[in-house]
Amino acid sequence: MSIEVTLIPGDGIGPEVTYATVRLVEAAGAEITWVEKAATAVVGRRHGETEMNPLVGSIRKTRVALKGPITTPVGGGNRSVNVALRRALGLYANLRPVKNMPGVKTRFQNVDLIVVRENTEGLYSGLEHTVAPGVVESLKVITELASTRVARFAFDYARRMGRKKITAAHKANIMKLSDGLFLNCVRKVACEYPEIECQELIVDNCSMQLVMRPETFDMLLLENLYGDILSDLCAGLVGGLGLVPGANIGAECSLFEAVHGSAPDIAGKNIANPTAMMLSSILMLRHLGQDKVADRVEKAIRFVYAAGKHLTSDVGGKASTEEFASAVIGALDQ
Ligand code: NAI
Repeated sequence: MSIEVTLIPGDGIGPEVTYATVRLVEAAGAEITWVEKAATAVVGRRHGETEMNPLVGSIRKTRVALKGPITTPVGGGNRSVNVALRRALGLYANLRPVKNMPGVKTRFQNVDLIVVRENTEGLYSGLEHTVAPGVVESLKVITELASTRVARFAFDYARRMGRKKITAAHKANIMKLSDGLFLNCVRKVACEYPEIECQELIVDNCSMQLVMRPETFDMLLLENLYGDILSDLCAGLVGGLGLVPGANIGAECSLFEAVHGSAPDIAGKNIANPTAMMLSSILMLRHLGQDKVADRVEKAIRFVYAAGKHLTSDVGGKASTEEFASAVIGALDQ
């Protein structure tokens, strides 16, 4: 039976990587009916957040979405459509698996870690104001509810996937109340999972250890801002943003998207790497219970990387977005 999925191509390189992924997923035999919706920064800027209601409504109905990146202007302009979507849909946990791809040479060849990021609060609460000319205040909100919920998600995921260790990175030595609360919630949840080691690291030390000994990490559990920054760092460990997928999970809906943004510097050139988006679709297919299709897609992507003949320029090749997608589709029956 075909399942409806909301499809949001996004902007910048979004449509290029999204349609390449749709082509692959369909060729692999996924049973999906796409419900396509536009969601760009322009929508947010012109009409404000209420304009997002049809989009939120569609995702609430289908319960699953595959989304391309959406530009957020720096400084002024509209607030992030991405952040607004995560909050409106209660997508409280962000999951980002980071793993070496065969044939992509990086400093480390043994990275296989999963970043779990709290997705709804922290410094992304959007509570900023000018206190006096030249003085602004940005509020970091940490709640017991959100911290416990994301910690439970991480430990449940570790148990299900057979992961052995979770590292909670924090700055509770300085932000004693906010990060202290996050850490206490993690500790409480960890007690219910005695088979999983719970390591605590101050986030600056964690960053250093990640770039020196990434193989010693299994899963990372982070509040919102640290998760955003460290997951890009982790992407760099395996060859860049073109390779890292993501899932935003809520109690009722889930939204799958690459970690990267809309990459305006390369948009419209047919050179973006669609791998991160394709790997996100694999997470989505598994979520939908279409594991056989997911396995086929994963095998084909890894085959094309191992062969090394049709890779995009960010990972040392010369292929266009479309040529890479065609090579993966051609490898589905290998
Ligand atoms: P970015 O991820 O778009 O780009 C950073 C660098 O990585 C650029 O040099 C870009 O060319 C490269 N890159 C990214 N994805 C790539 C791919 N698939 N293939 C090859 N190269 C790739 O980050 P940036 O420039 O900080 O953000 C651009 C816009 O995207 C901003 O408006 C930002 O707010 C938005 N953004 C949206 C996200 C989302 O929709 N979930 C996530 C992150 C950023």
